[in-house]
Amino acid sequence: MTDQIRYRRPSPGTQPGYLHPSYVSSVKRAPTQPLVLLSHTLSETTGPQFAENDVMGSGGDLTRQPSGEPLGERIIVSGRVLDENGRSVPHTLVELWQANAAGRYLHEIDQHNAPLDPNFTGCGHTLTDGEGRYRFVTVKPGCYPWRNHQNAWRPAHIHFSLFGPAFATRLVTQMYFPGDPLLPYDPIFNSIADEQARNRLISVFDWEMTIPETALGYRFDVVLRGREETPMEKSSIHGQVTQRRKK
Ligand SMILES: [Fe+2]
Repeated sequence: MTDQIRYRRPSPGTQPGYLHPSYVSSVKRAPTQPLVLLSHTLSETTGPQFAENDVMGSGGDLTRQPSGEPLGERIIVSGRVLDENGRSVPHTLVELWQANAAGRYLHEIDQHNAPLDPNFTGCGHTLTDGEGRYRFVTVKPGCYPWRNHQNAWRPAHIHFSLFGPAFATRLVTQMYFPGDPLLPYDPIFNSIADEQARNRLISVFDWEMTIPETALGYRFDVVLRGREETPMEKSSIHGQVTQRRKK
């Protein structure tokens, strides 16, 4: 199959390196041979496509739970999804997952000594609108220890998965919060060599998005592929909590 769409490659240093020794688990999983680049085929450039009936109505509001509201600081997280040419990506699936306000995931592997919240699953999903905008209502996640090194704490962060128009544009990443004192010490955040690219992962406090007496607003725009591509994460909740258990 010939190339249908040729996506641009990210600039060197703007994506996390596969091997970043201070991020301990990268040592074992980093490839030791050069990667083999494969051409995109029709199946990677044309789907999957999602429709309104593929997502539940309240998937974007993580504070709406059957038996009560979650504890913690309520926040709005919203932004635009853009393609490599700066055009909006409409009607695309955006998913997020996160720890609760105490820094604990609702996941069997996460045995961190912090309380679970019976009113918080930490998972949400929505579709972008016609202009590529998405919006979540959630609570600010807590920081958590992860045993990567002595006294290691992850900065507060929210995991994102975005599909874009096709598998080849899928992006999994992490959003951080401005002014977090843990960012300079976090080897996952700092595995992206380029400072500008690294800072694309930090959301922006948005006064206009903030709802009086209700929730602070944070803007997080995401670029799928190209020179301005939002850095991909080279880990997952499984990678992080598994390390926590191992060490
Ligand atoms: Fe995490």
